[in-house]
Amino acid sequence: MTTPGAQPLLSARNIYAGYGHVRVLENVSVAAAAGHIVALVGRNGAGKSTLLRTLSGLNRPTAGEIVFDGRSIAGARTHAIVEAGLLHVAEGRRLFRRQSVADNIELGRYGLRLSVEQRRQRLDRIHELFPVLREKQDLIAGGLSGGQQQMLAIAQAMMREPKLLMLDEPSLGLAPVLVDQVLDAILSLRAQGVAILLVEQMVERALEIADYAYVLQNGRVIASGPAHEIASGDALHKAFMGEHGAPVGAEPGVRGS
Ligand SMILES: Nc1ncnc2c1ncn2[C@@H]1O[C@H](COP(=O)(O)OP(=O)(O)OP(=O)(O)O)[C@@H](O)[C@H]1O
Ligand SMILES: [Mg+2]
Repeated sequence: MTTPGAQPLLSARNIYAGYGHVRVLENVSVAAAAGHIVALVGRNGAGKSTLLRTLSGLNRPTAGEIVFDGRSIAGARTHAIVEAGLLHVAEGRRLFRRQSVADNIELGRYGLRLSVEQRRQRLDRIHELFPVLREKQDLIAGGLSGGQQQMLAIAQAMMREPKLLMLDEPSLGLAPVLVDQVLDAILSLRAQGVAILLVEQMVERALEIADYAYVLQNGRVIASGPAHEIASGDALHKAFMGEHGAPVGAEPGVRGS
């Protein structure tokens, strides 16, 4: 299977993973290079979140190899993976809802030693990307709109200047104008050289901004290639249609587990 870039930042090969005795991922191989957006698409329950969880150390793969930035990270502890520069913004935006926007951003650098200057630079970069987070810095995070909370979750991750940012359904529940803003922010991060692994239910939108894509079905990669080729290929249709041609679980708002 071809991989994006000659020397990908992340290379996961032949991954098997699941929950207890339930196997979800079977022989999954994916790669992501710096400055590229890689989309993972597939219908509800295909294993997209499980793959992200396995890459970020929340799930242990039962087999397979994961190399990130030249180091093997399969089975490594989550904090070691975060320290290596791989950050995961999970589905559902895990924020400290009763704390202020500013505090939530600060919490993103937990355990990091930054100089005053480094901290200021990172905050400036975040506020440049998401001016609304400066405007609302004193409000509690729980009072933000869904889109603003998603921006805050990304901002938190940006405090660590990730090499690879994994986003699980960043558009979930957002109004279209906010979806545009979040996708624009992802493009800006790519322009800064960050590698992005994007799981997105808005498949067309994801494939529009992605460089490369993988289609997952029942825990397996059934197709991969340049995003524009995937967008017009048969695999996408197959992955989103039921046995009898009826669309299954592809509509926004229809959730699996
Ligand atoms: N904590 C869990 N324990 C047991 N099974 C789980 C758990 N989480 C997910 N699964 C199962 O693993 C399979 C893959 O789920 P996963 O959440 O990875 O899919 P997904 O592609 O992210 O789907 P969605 O689009 O609904 O988010 C599903 O069959 C799901 O029911
Ligand atoms: Mg999911």
